[in-house]
Amino acid sequence: MFINNWYVAAQSEDLEDTPLKVTMLGCDFALYRTPEGKAACISNVCPHRGASMADGKCKDDGTLACPYHGWQFNVAGDCTLIPSRREQDPQALAPGVKIDAYLTEEKYGLIWVFLGDDPDSAAPIPDIPEFEDDAFVHTRAVDEWQANYHWAKFSNLDLVHLPVVHGIQFQNQENPFEPPPAELKREGLGFNHLYYPSAGIREGGEWDKLREDGEAKQVESYMKFSVAGWMLHGRVEIGGVGSGMHNAFYEFSTPIDDTRTMMTYIFFRNFMTEPEINPEHLKRNMMNVKQDKAIAEAQRPKIAPHAKDPHGLYTADEDTVIALYWDIMEEMRAKGWQIDRLTLAEQNKDARYRVIPSPKRQQEKGPWVHPEVPRFPKTI
Ligand code: FES
Ligand SMILES: [Fe+2]
Repeated sequence: MFINNWYVAAQSEDLEDTPLKVTMLGCDFALYRTPEGKAACISNVCPHRGASMADGKCKDDGTLACPYHGWQFNVAGDCTLIPSRREQDPQALAPGVKIDAYLTEEKYGLIWVFLGDDPDSAAPIPDIPEFEDDAFVHTRAVDEWQANYHWAKFSNLDLVHLPVVHGIQFQNQENPFEPPPAELKREGLGFNHLYYPSAGIREGGEWDKLREDGEAKQVESYMKFSVAGWMLHGRVEIGGVGSGMHNAFYEFSTPIDDTRTMMTYIFFRNFMTEPEINPEHLKRNMMNVKQDKAIAEAQRPKIAPHAKDPHGLYTADEDTVIALYWDIMEEMRAKGWQIDRLTLAEQNKDARYRVIPSPKRQQEKGPWVHPEVPRFPKTI
């Protein structure tokens, strides 16, 4: 798993007055809203005696009070009050006391948290232009998968699975199972990808009316991947190029840990925008998700082998996208952002709690009660 990245931590609507405990990258976080309504995130483990901060209360001054002895921490992670010694400066009582605090943004109805200590080098939160476009309506879903986040992501990045798992075939070639050459372009810590599936729309229901004369038309499918939010965006013009009817999805994957992934979906459409169509729109999209989930959860080993084509089984065109994905993972590792899972397991034998480092750790080297998770060394 990787630090120094933006992740979707929760849905805006789920974060109200009560703090939320969220597990990401194997660590626990407390999400809460200040009295002004601004979302904030700190490590969930109180530096004093390890109580769960998410069980605490948000105070009028915007601090979060620990449920055990009431120590209060502000959104920057500074300890502002030790109630049993009200008059005294917490820094005099417990020199250096602080908690990791993480950058938090609220956008597109999602709470985004930057997990890491180097926000300036990170991929930015992706744009969702459909959100600003009144022609589009959307539906949402959240689903926890008992699957490694790489496996979960591949369930949509992978091309060959489209005909096999979803029945979406490729056009203009003898073998409709053979992916067409990918028009693949790297962009930052992600890529854009264009390919041409068949106009196969599932039979029946309202959707069937979108196909003129039952003719299959030229269809262009656009995909975009960014490590920010571990986002996959797909867009297709229903009924063929030029129809003007766009179906788009955004899928965000947040690793809960190495074997569980929180999947967040936003599905857009600019046709049949009546609200009564929403349930069918959601159902159709979730049908694909269900098929992908079954594959990903059954995959073994439970944690995807972290390398490009470790066994020499990739075929040129079919796995171009996956190969590029692994190149990006290599780069993230070389930046020193990948958690060293085996070393972490070894270190955890001392039964200490290890945290994702926050930006404050860059300025204040110590003392921190909880050590950082170990990472692969930076090589670039
Ligand atoms: S454990 Fe949090 S204040 Fe004591
Ligand atoms: Fe899929």
